[in-house]
Amino acid sequence: MGSTAAQPEGSVDVQRQFRTALSMFATGVAVITAPRQEGHPIGITVASFNSVSLDPPLILFSVDRRSMSLADLCSAPSYAVNVLEETQQEMSNRFAKANGDKWSWRNGGASERDAAVLLPDALATFECEPYAQHDGGDHVIFVGRVTRHRARPHGRPLIFFGGRYRSLDAVQSASA
Ligand SMILES: Cc1cc2nc3c(=O)[nH]c(=O)nc-3n(C[C@H](O)[C@H](O)[C@H](O)COP(=O)(O)O)c2cc1C
Repeated sequence: MGSTAAQPEGSVDVQRQFRTALSMFATGVAVITAPRQEGHPIGITVASFNSVSLDPPLILFSVDRRSMSLADLCSAPSYAVNVLEETQQEMSNRFAKANGDKWSWRNGGASERDAAVLLPDALATFECEPYAQHDGGDHVIFVGRVTRHRARPHGRPLIFFGGRYRSLDAVQSASA
């Protein structure tokens, strides 16, 4: 196992090695949606979603300060976490493009000014009201209080590991 330490902080090599080490933590993939006062709703692909607290019911995710959606997301009255299933890689890519054409595949309505969009076929959705925002270096950490959730427990997740999408097929099931 390689180890890395003590190179100039912020150098390209160090950042690449740090990213590689982080990518060893397998995650699911989610799309954060939120209403926007003007124009299309917010939609951002994230792998940083995680659970925080059962009581109260809290979740978190972090958003890059360079995200075009950040300012609107910081002031959004609500947002939703849409956990993607393994067939939704295209959906993930769509919401991972800054300034991309994120919403042309669907017809939105005026009601979208009030509520976050729930994506069809998501494995689980968590509708949230903002609970806290924290400084996370070059990211902002959002903590949301879950107001409603639903799940399809027999669905299969889209997985992100080692900088690539994976599915459960490629993983041996681990015995507990
Ligand atoms: C699998 C995957 C996971 C990602 N996870 C995050 C994340 O946790 N936080 C983040 O800020 N960006 C993440 N991104 C990148 C954003 O989706 C991307 O920067 C997006 O363009 C932001 O949209 P915006 O600039 O229009 O707001 C991820 C991208 C992919 C493909």
